[in-house]
Amino acid sequence: MAQTRQLKEDARPYEPATGPALRRVTAAAIKRRKGSTTVPMVTAYDAPFGRFAEEAGIDWILVGDSLGNVVLGFDETTPVTMDDMVHHTEAVVRGTARAHIVADMPFGSYQVSDEEAVRNAIRLVKEGGAMSIKLEGGSDVAARIHAIYRAGIPVVGHIGITPQTAGLGPGYRKRTHRDRLLEDALAVEAAGAYAIVLEVVDEEIARELTQRLSILTIGIGSGASCDSQVLVLHDVLGMYPHSPPFAKRFAEIGALATSALHDYATAVKEGTFPTA
Ligand code: KIV
Repeated sequence: MAQTRQLKEDARPYEPATGPALRRVTAAAIKRRKGSTTVPMVTAYDAPFGRFAEEAGIDWILVGDSLGNVVLGFDETTPVTMDDMVHHTEAVVRGTARAHIVADMPFGSYQVSDEEAVRNAIRLVKEGGAMSIKLEGGSDVAARIHAIYRAGIPVVGHIGITPQTAGLGPGYRKRTHRDRLLEDALAVEAAGAYAIVLEVVDEEIARELTQRLSILTIGIGSGASCDSQVLVLHDVLGMYPHSPPFAKRFAEIGALATSALHDYATAVKEGTFPTA
């Protein structure tokens, strides 16, 4: 009964009352998962890996601006552009059918003004096909979050280590200033975000934030008590030379790829491929 009502509330205007079309998981549906099992999230940057993640049962995917490091070959996320994010978000959306795709707002796309932030968030939704956007910062970006939320776009916040600016000053140490983190998290929640990334935040503080906030906390290097956990795809699959200490490499796809390519190159050189 409750499920029938839920389907009707979520249904699109011209959708049949029964057997609704297969459609994307919504931000609201993700938010309702707070308090149930921990929600897995992973990054993806292209269609095949979006599809692999979805086929693996991960229905919340982040097109992170870690794109800059793990795909585009930069040392930082700072150079990533809006065009880069739109391009890669489109690809992940094309590769998936049901997953909720969150796109990162790159450095420079939301710092200047509320208007510019809203315009760029709209681009990620309209051109990229994103269903939510994420941006870094706490109280300092509360007005931006609110403006984007008011434009009807679901927002994910991001506090703790914020890689876009970490290299410019604050660095990559674990964040342990409880009062500051709490103030920032509450500001992000009050501004309208439905979830918030806690990147390398002290585990006890992450636990407290998870208890105090009504929105989902997404942990990365912040312990096991968060509502959700996210990792960079290239760390999970071992496709990047070095991973942060908190990440777990569940496979070594990079080594496997090198070995397969070596076998291919050898076969070509030795004339065993192609066969006559
Ligand atoms: O860009 C990214 O991949 C991220 C995650 C590490 C949370 O922001």
